[in-house]
Amino acid sequence: MIYSLLRPIFFHLDAEKAHHATLSALSCIPSGTPKAPDPMLSSTVAGICFPGPVGLAAGFDKDGKIAHKMHHFGFGFAELGTLTPLPQDGNPRPRLFRLAEDQAVINRMGFNNGGQQDAARRLATMPRAGRVIGINIGANKDAADRVADYVTGVHAMGRLGDYLTINISSPNTPGLRALQSKAALDELLSAITQARGDKAIPLFLKVAPDLEPADREDIAASVLDHKIDALIISNTTISRPPLQSSLGGEGGGLSGAPLHDLALERLRQFRALLGDQIPLIGAGGISNAQQAYARIRAGASLIQLYSAMVYEGPYLAARINAGLKKYLKRDGLTNITQAVGIDTRAA
Ligand SMILES: Cc1cc2nc3c(=O)[nH]c(=O)nc-3n(C[C@H](O)[C@H](O)[C@H](O)COP(=O)(O)O)c2cc1C
Repeated sequence: MIYSLLRPIFFHLDAEKAHHATLSALSCIPSGTPKAPDPMLSSTVAGICFPGPVGLAAGFDKDGKIAHKMHHFGFGFAELGTLTPLPQDGNPRPRLFRLAEDQAVINRMGFNNGGQQDAARRLATMPRAGRVIGINIGANKDAADRVADYVTGVHAMGRLGDYLTINISSPNTPGLRALQSKAALDELLSAITQARGDKAIPLFLKVAPDLEPADREDIAASVLDHKIDALIISNTTISRPPLQSSLGGEGGGLSGAPLHDLALERLRQFRALLGDQIPLIGAGGISNAQQAYARIRAGASLIQLYSAMVYEGPYLAARINAGLKKYLKRDGLTNITQAVGIDTRAA
């Protein structure tokens, strides 16, 4: 209700200014104490107890300023970043576009962030009780050795989050997504798992939706070989399904409603390759409980969202939680884990 009143004001602003205004507004909210986890919606994934299945996707809170407050809106976890070892400005503006007719966003931010040291200081004092905070790490644009940047990220951030996400799928750092190819990925994951050491923070890998069948098979083999703890499917797409908005030709990654079908298809394909050997996290175009439930039934243990929040407001997560509970009750299930992959089992 409040968001539908504020939305015209935010939409009047340039998209990036609106985003900063949103972060400023959220930073005024007290941290508060998360409610006890809901027995129907809480689950343990990759050894972590998630109070709810709906997460804030990376990119919204790059520097970790408000992640600990998102429980107020029903988020069960929040992923901050992408954080690079050194601070960087990202690409020139404008670099963030709302495609309202398509309920979509295009961004070519280019990992603008204040760097890992700055975020580490903030994380050290962030209230953590009852919260799950993931940290998404990447490489600086001008890094001479990208693998070394990820290793730096593991050392700098590995003790500060509940999990680390290795982001090799953003389209806005030239060449980054080449790390998804078999030899490069194996080299990267070897270096990262070695840097993490034994019994340390769970490692999640985030992939692009723009992957050919052979790429997906290679990634599936690599995540199993290197015992990666979860796979996030997916980042934004460089593809352009038919769009209504005149901004559809802007370069960068497309997210929101037009990504929905592609991201769901990729999740199903990875589930077919991996079964339940590794938890999957579904992201891409999720904007309501029905879509969230479908993603879970297709094999996602958790889901993440960002773009739909631009159109629906932050309480979208709470609405999805309420809808998920209705679907679980309708299907005679008592906990979200019972729904994970249920459609693949029935097939
Ligand atoms: C403005 C913007 C910035 C993003 N920045 C990042 C980022 O820094 N790191 C990352 O892994 N994903 C980033 N993403 C991708 C999201 O985390 C998510 O994977 C993608 O947008 C699909 O979900 P959605 O359709 O719900 O937005 C960004 C997305 C948007 C819209």
